[in-house]
Amino acid sequence: MQLLGFDIGSSSVKAAIIEGETGKCLASAQHPDVEMEISAPQSGWAEQEPENWYFHLKFALKRLLENSNVDVNAIGAIGISYQMHGLVLTDKSQKVVRPAIIWCDSRATKIGDTAFNDLGSEFCLSHMLNSPGNFTASKLKWVFDNAKDIYNQSEYMMLPGDYIAMKLTGNVNTTVSGLSEGILWDFKNAKVSDDLLSYYQLDIKKVPQMVPTFGVQGELSDVVAKELGLRVGIPVTYRAGDQPNNAFSLNVLNPGEVAATAGTSGVVYAISDKINYDPLSRVNTFAHVNHQRDANRLGVLLCVNGTGIQYSWMKREVGKNVYSYSELNEKASMVPPGSDGVKVFPFGNGAERLLCNQDPGAKISGIRFNQHHEGHLYRAAQEGIAFAFKYGMEVMNQMGIDTRLIRAGSANLFQSPLFRKTLASITGATIELYNTDGAIGAARGAGVGVGYYKSFNEAFVGFEKLHVTEPVNSMTNELEPVYALWKEELEKTLDIK
Ligand code: XUL
Repeated sequence: MQLLGFDIGSSSVKAAIIEGETGKCLASAQHPDVEMEISAPQSGWAEQEPENWYFHLKFALKRLLENSNVDVNAIGAIGISYQMHGLVLTDKSQKVVRPAIIWCDSRATKIGDTAFNDLGSEFCLSHMLNSPGNFTASKLKWVFDNAKDIYNQSEYMMLPGDYIAMKLTGNVNTTVSGLSEGILWDFKNAKVSDDLLSYYQLDIKKVPQMVPTFGVQGELSDVVAKELGLRVGIPVTYRAGDQPNNAFSLNVLNPGEVAATAGTSGVVYAISDKINYDPLSRVNTFAHVNHQRDANRLGVLLCVNGTGIQYSWMKREVGKNVYSYSELNEKASMVPPGSDGVKVFPFGNGAERLLCNQDPGAKISGIRFNQHHEGHLYRAAQEGIAFAFKYGMEVMNQMGIDTRLIRAGSANLFQSPLFRKTLASITGATIELYNTDGAIGAARGAGVGVGYYKSFNEAFVGFEKLHVTEPVNSMTNELEPVYALWKEELEKTLDIK
């Protein structure tokens, strides 16, 4: 059997087909070539058209099928990975009623803060493991407060992955893991967080029915099958947010295991079997793909919103797209650790949970016109991202989470040897790279969901470690004082005592 995975990111959609028996990736493709647009009708807002995700899914698959000779009739199941925490609203006929309010949109932060205050931190943390913050439930409340006609017109609220599954199958449903990422799941009572919904005056009927993360969630409809050139009735058997899915892709399923990625956003994600949360919600706790009421598998998630998106901004706005990413890395490597005093703060992609939902914007400091050149900016950009990871990993470490061994896919900024060495040296972590990505992980998940793989173990056939990066002592020594200055400068710009 062959298995098809889709990864709906904020910058592109990726599709991959794997051979079930060997786990080998037979073909993969992505669309579009340049990052998808995130529109900001107002400062701090971030929206995308859900129809566009589907459009790019179609073209990613078309590209994949044109450039390979996979037999589409052998595809036995489909899995979906998707950008988390977004809000998609559709009417009864499943038509989108407004653009999606995506994960890095900051408009609902105040709504979430007020809810945290009114409902009480003790209540929120013990039931939802987080402040309602800027997540999906708070975004829906924003629509309720600011666009009542749209709220009334909407029949369903969905996460981006629920929407894609609906497009493929016609079924509207969601998962526990998905509800938890929207702060719509009450862990204490194992049910939809109706206390938060009723505090927000939101209608629980808009929350879709639940289906298991692994299992049949719907089947490819006639119309869509024809449109995609696939067989009618292929089941969609797995769905997860891109971060739980990244962890799953890396076989990170058990307590103590840690995954990371550095796509548009950068994430460190650790599995815990104990109810564990940060009282300030700077890092968040969600249900992992294998979470069960009687066997906690929680993902403690640190997110830095401005990671790959910052590096692509540098490539476009500083390098004017003249250089490839590997050329930027070469230029960065010519500059010594610490970037001769240039510092970059990568916080330009919306309110940062890590910074208690403050949105200071990105900052570059310390430039001397007679000393620095663009290589300094590229190195400082990578160092700034590694420092932001370190800053968040300190919070995770305070929670008792051990981050000394991290797995990542061989993709995005983790392909930069300089980034890996910097991150390993400043955090003391060993970083292992594997032959996987989100779309391959979604395909493996589909194999579990359809029952082709009888266990998670079986699903990781063909999963291989490609490379290990260890901390470099001399680099640690050089970077530690630089990080201390970076942290001091960051905290001066924030309202942190
Ligand atoms: C994770 C997060 C981002 C998005 C990106 O909590 O907000 O990583 O999932 O798609």
